[in-house]
Amino acid sequence: MPQEVQMLAFCFISVALSLLVTLVCLNEKVFERYYSSGSKSHRGMDEDFLSLVKSIVPPLTSKKHKGQDGRIGIIGGCQDYTGAPYFAAISALKVGADLSHVFCTKDAATVIKSFSPELIVHPVLDSPNAVEEIDKWLPRLHALVVGPGLGREDSLLKTAKEVIEKSKTRDIPIIIDADGLWLVTQQPSVIHGYHKGILTPNFMEFTRLYEALHHEPMDISDRQRSVTQLSVAMGNITMVLKGEQDLITDGGKVITCSVEGSERRCGGQGDVLSGSLGVFAHWAHAASAAGVGRSANPSMVAAFGACSLTRQCNNQAFQRHGRSTTTTDMIQEIGSAFKKLFES
Ligand SMILES: *[C@@H]1O[C@H](CO)[C@@H](O)[C@H](O)[C@H]1NC(C)=O
Repeated sequence: MPQEVQMLAFCFISVALSLLVTLVCLNEKVFERYYSSGSKSHRGMDEDFLSLVKSIVPPLTSKKHKGQDGRIGIIGGCQDYTGAPYFAAISALKVGADLSHVFCTKDAATVIKSFSPELIVHPVLDSPNAVEEIDKWLPRLHALVVGPGLGREDSLLKTAKEVIEKSKTRDIPIIIDADGLWLVTQQPSVIHGYHKGILTPNFMEFTRLYEALHHEPMDISDRQRSVTQLSVAMGNITMVLKGEQDLITDGGKVITCSVEGSERRCGGQGDVLSGSLGVFAHWAHAASAAGVGRSANPSMVAAFGACSLTRQCNNQAFQRHGRSTTTTDMIQEIGSAFKKLFES
């Protein structure tokens, strides 16, 4: 008999033990699920915006005529700066624009043309009737990027300002970067409250603009708050504050783009962003006009798309080239980065 008791006891203990193990496992599963949904709320927002971006990318079909996927204009390029407008214009093409026009000064035109036969280069920015010359093209453009390589010469800034005014009356999306932001810092009214306007400052340009509008030093410890304040002060225009993470807002919620980039920042990366943003802005506003995209602000969707793409290009280029990564390497990654993010 004692042997049977022993056997019984042994069985009891085994059953109890396996029950315990099952319970622990179950618990772990529950814990795991809880934990991952907890950490997901942030990524969830990214995924929302990622799927919104996917929904605005026009499919490639044979039915379209040339120009439907976007004709983008770049206002910039002068004697001192020829790389920036080239980077912005070629990025727009690589993202999927049909045509990229560069409106630059006479002495920059030959240089920019020589970088690429794919761009249309107009040597008009310093001509006496520059605004008139550019205005002729506006009806054919879907988005405008103002500032890459514009420089700070008064006459060029004045031309840029008048071109912005004309584009606003035509309801064209306008991206303002680099020296274009210098102009906005001097005269915020030029783009204030324009719902298809997007500013893409780096931290220094942002600080300058903030202090010009708020007449007080910025609290650098809370960037989310500062970027929201500035957007509201600019009439809820879409702001993209570039940095370790890109912050995007229209004065309401702030979305963060934290697609992994790299430690390497090259001069010209901002031009990849502004050029691609021109295309995304056109697509997003066209999609929104056609009823796609629920209630999201098209400018925010476009900004998220361009920021994600630029960061992904940086990441891929860095994997290939490490510390020797340049903007040209990033531009070569646009095709595969785009596919990876938005077409998979
Ligand atoms: C700007 O956005 C905020 C937050 O969405 C809103 O409360 C405010 O009314 C908006 N201002 C304008 C001028 O639309």
